[in-house]
Amino acid sequence: MIGIIGGSGAYAIPDMQVIRENSIKTTFGNPSAKLLFGQLGESNIIFLPRHGSGHKIPPHAINYRANIRALYDCGAQCIISLNAVGAISAELKAPDLCIPEQLIDYTYGRDHTFFDGSNGVVEHIDFTHPYDENVRQALLLAASKLNLRFRGNGVYAVTQGPRLESASEVNRLERDGADIVGMTGMPEAALARELGIPYASICIIVNPAAGRSQEPITMSAILEHLDNGVANALTVIRSALPILSRHQLAKH
Ligand code: HPA
Repeated sequence: MIGIIGGSGAYAIPDMQVIRENSIKTTFGNPSAKLLFGQLGESNIIFLPRHGSGHKIPPHAINYRANIRALYDCGAQCIISLNAVGAISAELKAPDLCIPEQLIDYTYGRDHTFFDGSNGVVEHIDFTHPYDENVRQALLLAASKLNLRFRGNGVYAVTQGPRLESASEVNRLERDGADIVGMTGMPEAALARELGIPYASICIIVNPAAGRSQEPITMSAILEHLDNGVANALTVIRSALPILSRHQLAKH
C-alpha cells in the first residue's frame, strides 16, 4: 500500500475510491485526520491530509509523529508527500512542480524524532539523502511523460512558519543553496526514515518567495495557483503508482 500525505489544497483525492476510513490512534497521539483507505486506479492507497480535513492545523502544530506512525501501523510501504512551497530559484514559477532531492531543516520546537531516548536506546539514522531515490525516480519518470513544467531536483528549505519569510531570510536560504521554501517538509521526511519507510516529496510552487517579486504574497494569490498545482501533482502521482508497484515498493 502506498501512503499519500496531502498538503495545502489537497484534502481529498477526487477520483479515489474510498473503501474504508480509520480513526486510528497511535502511541504519539492522533493523526491530523481519519486515514482513508481505497484505490487510485489499480493501486491500493492510504490518504492522509496533513492539515486535517479542510485547512485546520498550521504547519508548526501538526502531529508529524502521529501521522507517520499511523501510516506505518496501517502498512504503508512507501509515502508520497505533497507540499506547497514558494520559489527561491528564478527559473521556478507557479504552478510548476519540483521533486526535491535535498532539504535543509530550519524548523524548531516540533516533536521531530521517534528516537527521543525514552526507551534507553540511542539511534542516529543516515539522512545523507533525505528522500528515497526509488520513489523520487518513479515520480520523475511519471512527470517526464506528462506535458507539464517540473524540476527533478532542488533543495527544499523547511521553515518554521506560520509566517512567511523576510526578503533577507530568503536571500540567506538562497546562499545556503535552497531552491524552494515551505513549512511542512520536516520533520516528516526524517520520521519516515526513522521507521524505514521510503519517502519522497512532490512540491507545488504557489508563489515567488518573499522579495522575489514586487507583489506582496497574499493568500488569494497562493490559492490561485494551488488548485492547478495540486491537480498536476495528483496526475503525476497517478502515473507513478504503477511504477512504484513494479519497483516492489508497494505490493498490491
Ligand atoms: N514560504 C514558506 N512556506 C510557503 C511559501 C513560502 O513562500 N509558500 C507556500 N508555503
